[in-house]
Amino acid sequence: MDCAVVGVAFYMVRIGGVRQKMAIATQIVPMERIMSENVFQHLKTLEAQGLEQIEAVNTLEELTQLNKQLLGKKGDIQATMKAIKTLPKAEKPKLGAAVNQAKQTLQAAFDAKNARLQALREQQAIAEHRVDLSLPGRSHRRGGEHILRTVQREIEDVFVKMGFRIALGPQIEDDFYNFEALNFPADHPARDMQDTLLVEDGSVLRTHTSPVQIRTMLSYPPPIRIIAPGAVYRRDDDVTHSPLFHQVEGLHVDRNLSLAHLKGILQHFAHELFSPSTPIRLRPSFFPFTEPSVEVDIGCIFCDNSGCRLCKQTGWIEILGAGMVDPNVFRECGIDPEVWSGWAFGIGIERVAMLKHRISDIRLFFESDLRFLGQFGLG
Ligand code: PHE
Repeated sequence: MDCAVVGVAFYMVRIGGVRQKMAIATQIVPMERIMSENVFQHLKTLEAQGLEQIEAVNTLEELTQLNKQLLGKKGDIQATMKAIKTLPKAEKPKLGAAVNQAKQTLQAAFDAKNARLQALREQQAIAEHRVDLSLPGRSHRRGGEHILRTVQREIEDVFVKMGFRIALGPQIEDDFYNFEALNFPADHPARDMQDTLLVEDGSVLRTHTSPVQIRTMLSYPPPIRIIAPGAVYRRDDDVTHSPLFHQVEGLHVDRNLSLAHLKGILQHFAHELFSPSTPIRLRPSFFPFTEPSVEVDIGCIFCDNSGCRLCKQTGWIEILGAGMVDPNVFRECGIDPEVWSGWAFGIGIERVAMLKHRISDIRLFFESDLRFLGQFGLG
């Protein structure tokens, strides 16, 4: 049974040396009695207290809680209806009306307070998330193409315009494509030139892009005109050598091709990539997969072919290896060397980029230093 304390006495005690006021109930009566005695008075008190409590509340959460406590189905106001059975018949409807009246008054106060607290919360949120439009913006660095990629694209463009197509091959390559089919027998001393990084029995990190020649000739019948850009690997590391670097391979297979075609194409290439007055020259060299083989120099772009420290006073700078496709390579690919002829070249992208942009240390390409990269089109 709900009860209420109607009489209280106070007395002082010492707890832990501190004087404290204690209260004890002197009279406890059942709620129903209070109500029947004075339920109307009680309602007035509840309403007045309720209004004060609503006024005192500071948060929406507390307000909701208070609303439930006062106006809920099991709330204080509704509870006063229990007294109805103790009222004389004539009084009963009055209690219902009084309860409704109290509910309306309190609900109105709740609504008003709710609106005020909502508005306050909104204001606080606005204040918290205020955007200061006068602050300077935070700028972002713009990304850009890596200089090696740019130079690769420039090389590609020259050949694509001449009708060459781009071919790609794997970076982990079979010994067969990287060496065997390119006329390097297993114990050929020319393999030493390559400083090969072995992956496992029979597989290597490709030491050049020439295996793409083999893959292409085994897959497509001549005539063939391709360039093959990509990463290659060698055990080598100093200011002009990196264990990872990039080449662009070129391969042209057709009837009646000669070294003169190769020279003409490479001359055009040098004009396009360096300057319209850059000369080239061919020097005899050796590669197992080309016969004859040449090394190709361009006129030194630093001294205009006249001799300086960078070209060791020769006026020339080596930029690529090339030659006529060796008949053994054609045979390995099932192409008749009596009918078909071809030339090939391999050019180092880093080397071209270093010459074009006067970069003296190859390692700068791979250090991702934005001070370096930013000089080549990075925002
Ligand atoms: N593959 C050779 C190298 O990496 C370059 C080359 C390619 C030479 C094609 C001749 C023909 O050194």
